[in-house]
Amino acid sequence: MKPALVFGTRPEIIKLAPVVRAFLEMGIKPLLIHTGQHYDYEMSRIFLEELELPPIDYHLEVGSGTQAEQTGKAMVKIEKVLMDERPDVTLVQGDTNTVLAGALASVKLKIPVAHVEAGLRSFDRTMPEEINRILADHASEVLFPPTDEARKNLEREGITENVYVVGNTIVDAVLQNSLVAEKKSDVLERLGMKPKEYILITAHRAENTDSRENLTRLVEILESLPMMAVYPIHPRTEGRLKRFGLWERVTAIENLVITKPLGYLDFLRLEKNAFAVMTDSGGVQEETIILDVPCLTLRYNTERPETVKAGGNILVGLERERVLHYLQKLIEDRDFYEKMAKAPNPFGDGKAGERIAKILLELYEKGELKVKS
Ligand code: UD1
Ligand code: UDP
Repeated sequence: MKPALVFGTRPEIIKLAPVVRAFLEMGIKPLLIHTGQHYDYEMSRIFLEELELPPIDYHLEVGSGTQAEQTGKAMVKIEKVLMDERPDVTLVQGDTNTVLAGALASVKLKIPVAHVEAGLRSFDRTMPEEINRILADHASEVLFPPTDEARKNLEREGITENVYVVGNTIVDAVLQNSLVAEKKSDVLERLGMKPKEYILITAHRAENTDSRENLTRLVEILESLPMMAVYPIHPRTEGRLKRFGLWERVTAIENLVITKPLGYLDFLRLEKNAFAVMTDSGGVQEETIILDVPCLTLRYNTERPETVKAGGNILVGLERERVLHYLQKLIEDRDFYEKMAKAPNPFGDGKAGERIAKILLELYEKGELKVKS
């Protein structure tokens, strides 16, 4: 079997690495196609290196642009590779423009698509990611929802065939890399942070960063934090802060350490040792519940409702009073803290990558890995 993996951003590299590893362990060499949606060293190459991925077969260098520019450019370039290589299946992961481009280019060449992390829904169609998820799911032949809740979302939309609940490959990634991170990363020492005495922050989502008003609200939250905090800043957010004249203000906050985006080993160690995490990231909402760290999500909805139901994640939006209320409660109320930290992980046992590779091989051997008429 010849599987092709199409990916282009930081979280896709992290979450597909366990699938690549599983294929290699089965003696299958997957074709690796990097769209170049993310291209800075610290948004892409550092992960290829740290996660020890084999060399990328195609670097498509799509880069940044409007939604349609980026998706369209990626589609054209992916199509060309798929026409030349004719893989048996194209794997995409998650909800980025790379995913939509890969899924559409592939299915129209009658090369079946397998969607890893299928079925997630925020039910907010103003998010580019929600459109990408829905369209990618409907273009896919094989679907790998991480949880039963995600499977039910697919079922509601009439997708019931070749749906396999396998867990989320982020658990595989965390388990495969946490110990290495503890050994190899010196991030706490480098940034001068003591375990459980700082808050870790990430924020990059379009709805939080694209308007001056919302970004100002984020800065106001950062200005009021009751303890030391670290914020590895996504290039999108850095760009918007500078454009809206907020950069000086945010870098002047005394108890906030701003860094470039961190590699996976540094980030995992920082995350595991944080007192709490504030984020609008999808992957970080998942990792915190795996690592037993309370998470406050800077959004009004989430496509990871399992984390909220389990008790490890609270949606605080960009509401400063709400953020401060929960941070204070975490600081003062030990039981509340423990309850959030010990919320059970809903994303599986860390064997999702293996399951995905095995299921695809079985379908292929039975002659069932094809676009159905
Ligand atoms: C994308 C995904 C988002 C995902 C995130 C992961 C879409 C619609 N969005 O958002 O779902 O959570 O990746 O991090 O696909 N930039 C750089 N260097 C880079 C990459 C980006 O400077 O290596 C800057 C550019 O100014 C660019 C901006 O960041 O315009 C946004 O990048 P883009 O890939 O369009 O979206 P993300 O915000 O990264
Ligand atoms: N991450 C990282 N370095 C950072 C910030 C995040 O390695 O500075 C990792 C994090 O551990 C998680 C993934 O990037 O696995 C999340 O990516 P991101 O927040 O960019 O995208 P999302 O998950 O929201 O799509």
